[in-house]
Amino acid sequence: MDLYAALTTTGAIRDFTAAPVDDATLAHVLDVARFAPSGGNRQGWQVIVVKDPIVRRGLRDLYLTGWYDYLAQRAAGLTPWSPLADRDAEARAVVGAPGIAASASPDGFAERLHEVPVLLAITVDLAELAAVDRDLDRYTFAGAASVYPFAWSVLLAARDVGLGGVLTTMVIRREPDVLALLGVPDGHAIAALIALGHPVKSFSKLTRGPVSSFTTVDRYNGDPFGSDGSNGGGA
Ligand SMILES: Cc1cc2nc3c(=O)[nH]c(=O)nc-3n(C[C@H](O)[C@H](O)[C@H](O)COP(=O)(O)O)c2cc1C
Repeated sequence: MDLYAALTTTGAIRDFTAAPVDDATLAHVLDVARFAPSGGNRQGWQVIVVKDPIVRRGLRDLYLTGWYDYLAQRAAGLTPWSPLADRDAEARAVVGAPGIAASASPDGFAERLHEVPVLLAITVDLAELAAVDRDLDRYTFAGAASVYPFAWSVLLAARDVGLGGVLTTMVIRREPDVLALLGVPDGHAIAALIALGHPVKSFSKLTRGPVSSFTTVDRYNGDPFGSDGSNGGGA
């Protein structure tokens, strides 16, 4: 499909028809996604196609604990797990998680995660990451940039063959359990679970801030760039 259309309309899809995705299609999607960039071209990702119903259920259960904590933090007006979060406020918020879990619909995406047509676990070999911010005195994230472009390419490649999906990170809250469940060796991390399938609804317009809301000239507080809010504008 047209690259512009793909980039501007590939949103998170969490509702799938019952139609299966055959292995050949999935293999094609991964064959396209493997051209994603990574620091030093180390390609430290590993994909586990999770088919075993018991393992799928296990991942769903691990996802749910993080999910209800997430909802509880959102309900309290927090940005869940921000590196700069007020940990006390966060702790107070997650007290509400069991109540949210108790009243959750059994038909939610999270509750039915084990039923998605395709469930991919994306792990990463930490030894292969160029984590250039490793030694800074702040939360580090540069290493993640060597695996999430791949995950995004999976979603774009899936889109190109008519599939939709969503990148999820909730299970990272339970990483030791996830790694044990999937038999992942030491020195590796879980980066994401990706759900894929045939979308129930067609793709629609995405809600994103205009260029001028996140782009400035010369300094962080410089003049907004792209004041027309669309494509960069100009002098
Ligand atoms: C790093 C990252 C982590 C995410 N984690 C989750 C997740 O755990 N569960 C989920 O349902 N969606 C997750 N998402 C999907 C986002 O919620 C989604 O991309 C965002 O809300 C925009 O949605 P839209 O594309 O439909 O507008 C994640 C997305 C990213 C990029």
